[in-house]
Amino acid sequence: MRRSPATRRQFLHAMGRAGGFSATYLSMQAMGLLATPASAQTTKPNLPAGSGAGKHVVILGAGIAGLVAAYELGKAGYRTTVLEARGRVGGRVWSVRGGDRVEQIGRPDQYCQFQNGFYMNAGAARLPTAHTTILGYARQFDVPLEVMVNVDRSAHWDYNKDAVTERQAVNDTKGRIAELLEKSLAGNSLDTAMTPDDKEKLKTYLAQWGALGKDGSYTGSDRNGYKVDPGGFAHPPQTMDPLTLHRIIEDGFWGGGLSFEETFDQQAPMFQPVGGMDRIAYAIYGHVKDDVRLNTPVTAVGQIDNGVRVMLADGGMVEGDYVLCTLPATMVKKLTMRLSAAKKQALANTLYGISTKVAWESPRFWQDDGIMGGLAFTDQPNALVWYPSGDWYNPRGILMTAYSSGGFGPTPGVANGASSAGQKFAGMTADERFAVCKDVVERMHPGKSGLLEKPLTVSWTQTPWSEGIAANWRPEQRTTDYAELCKPEGRVFFAGEHLSYIGAWQEGAALSSFEAMKLIAARSAGDKVVTRKA
Ligand code: PHE
Repeated sequence: MRRSPATRRQFLHAMGRAGGFSATYLSMQAMGLLATPASAQTTKPNLPAGSGAGKHVVILGAGIAGLVAAYELGKAGYRTTVLEARGRVGGRVWSVRGGDRVEQIGRPDQYCQFQNGFYMNAGAARLPTAHTTILGYARQFDVPLEVMVNVDRSAHWDYNKDAVTERQAVNDTKGRIAELLEKSLAGNSLDTAMTPDDKEKLKTYLAQWGALGKDGSYTGSDRNGYKVDPGGFAHPPQTMDPLTLHRIIEDGFWGGGLSFEETFDQQAPMFQPVGGMDRIAYAIYGHVKDDVRLNTPVTAVGQIDNGVRVMLADGGMVEGDYVLCTLPATMVKKLTMRLSAAKKQALANTLYGISTKVAWESPRFWQDDGIMGGLAFTDQPNALVWYPSGDWYNPRGILMTAYSSGGFGPTPGVANGASSAGQKFAGMTADERFAVCKDVVERMHPGKSGLLEKPLTVSWTQTPWSEGIAANWRPEQRTTDYAELCKPEGRVFFAGEHLSYIGAWQEGAALSSFEAMKLIAARSAGDKVVTRKA
């Protein structure tokens, strides 16, 4: 006789009842539900419809992790309450528009004066194609996307206070390196490394790759653009003089901007939502609005019999079965909450990076140089100038003249990611930052910096409710502090970009939220439904 197979859910329920949460968690691990093979990383928690019935999850923070949780848990029948300190959703996804107030800790307020329709993405600003989860929500909720141009070889890079186009930086670097290698192929030094046949072929490739002349020398090429442009009839072009190898080595763009573009998540064409990055967050918000309480800071999180109690700054409280805390570690540290010594230590060990942006409204003078977007890197403390993509015929646009960072993601030109320039720029007054930006823009676009208007600056270390841009994990912390912060603490679960391997991206926030939801589902499968006053 065949036994009727118990469903996976019944099994987990039984396990949960018999052994409590940890047994459920362990059996889920054993069943592969919590394993993290590459293919499973982007899967949604797929919580069965109705599986959350009778359970109330109090979610702290209405950034991407919190909004995604509210949406997915809601679909599974959980009741959710999202408590958000700010008057807006999105967290570090923040599009600042005309009329908005920018509050920075210990600094005067700024008021955005951009014309209607313009915005500054103070935080998240680009979406690579690899980030299928966040792109999936954009598609699901019909958020129009447009191409965000992340690389434009026409951009003028400013190193050593002497601007060159990215074309020159790229092609002269290739040419000079190809020339060097060609020279060493001519001697015998590489004979043990290569066969004579391979050497001959490599010479041919080098000539193509570096645009070398017949004699293997590099004298520049038309890849860089022209000193005198080509025209009709009697107008042949004149190519530009190549940068010397010495200059290329001195300038630092080789280790800076050029290596930034090799980052996996950074690609030439990216996406952005039309009208501001916050459109995705707001689209998800549209489906969970009734459960989100804006302007509701939380002061304390306590675990009570069979539940949790969250204390609000306004004196109120919210009770539920579980808490999903999506606040950055910088803010978790400030909550009154009983945490294990290990968790406290891990929180203390978690460092956050810096990110400071400056944006202006301006006529589109850069288009005279054929610049359609992309990044112009500099060795000055503003780090880069980021040109707007799209809206080509609009006479005006928003120019981002600083994205100065440190301690998260690869920082151009800085091997370990800890950029003192990022620190220095964040420490400047707004006016000092604006002056640095104008100076750099003047070198990139002589005579044009006076056209920049209505500056606005946001530094995430100085932004209330964030106090940092993203966690800065040293690799060895992944098995210690990071692993500790991923663990639930009783009925309190955690998510956020800092609890992912895709830090400082919306994708990481969403995926960490998925993992937290799987844990909540496992836990809740073993817990009784408790009747509680609303
Ligand atoms: N996501 C952020 C950005 O694109 C930060 C980051 C930069 C993360 C580079 C990783 C690599 O600017």
